[in-house]
Amino acid sequence: MKKTVKRVKVKQEESVSLSLTVNGNRHVLKVRPAALLLDVLRDVLKLKGTKPGCHEGECGACTVLVNDIPVNSCLYLAVRAEGKKITTVEGLTGPGGALSAVQNALVEEGAVQCGFCTPGMAISMQALLNTHKSRKKSGRGTKSLSRDDIKKHFEGNLCRCTGYVKIIDAAEKLLAQSE
Ligand code: FES
Ligand code: FES
Repeated sequence: MKKTVKRVKVKQEESVSLSLTVNGNRHVLKVRPAALLLDVLRDVLKLKGTKPGCHEGECGACTVLVNDIPVNSCLYLAVRAEGKKITTVEGLTGPGGALSAVQNALVEEGAVQCGFCTPGMAISMQALLNTHKSRKKSGRGTKSLSRDDIKKHFEGNLCRCTGYVKIIDAAEKLLAQSE
């Protein structure tokens, strides 16, 4: 008996509209509902500074700020960024590519080797600095952060090269400068 083969048509995922602000620029895009923020930043907006590492939320190479909160963009659905403000490492630099205080601290302390973790580290460091400044401003944080507090902040950012000492030195220096 002749076998009949059933053809099943797989419905293509329809794209959805996404409006977000990245590094101060507003974008309106069409993305797949399952698209990750990391892929939209790198492949659609061509912002290649944010690095794809483990894709599992372990290494922190993909860290960006979403409404000033650090998130792993490899685990963050792009559609969740609707209407939000995203900052990538490209957004830290000033006019003409001037290095930010965070980037300067990393360079001055020699905290960069292969550089793969550096964009994520820089974004986490910026988040630390922002929190520290706002706590000081509001009078909620009169106590300086200890070196252990700073180390704890970077728990989600892995570095295979530096041994972390110089990265923590850079963060300490940055916070001291902001006092
Ligand atoms: S690539 Fe996102 S945490 Fe590693
Ligand atoms: S500098 Fe190479 S992984 Fe951190």
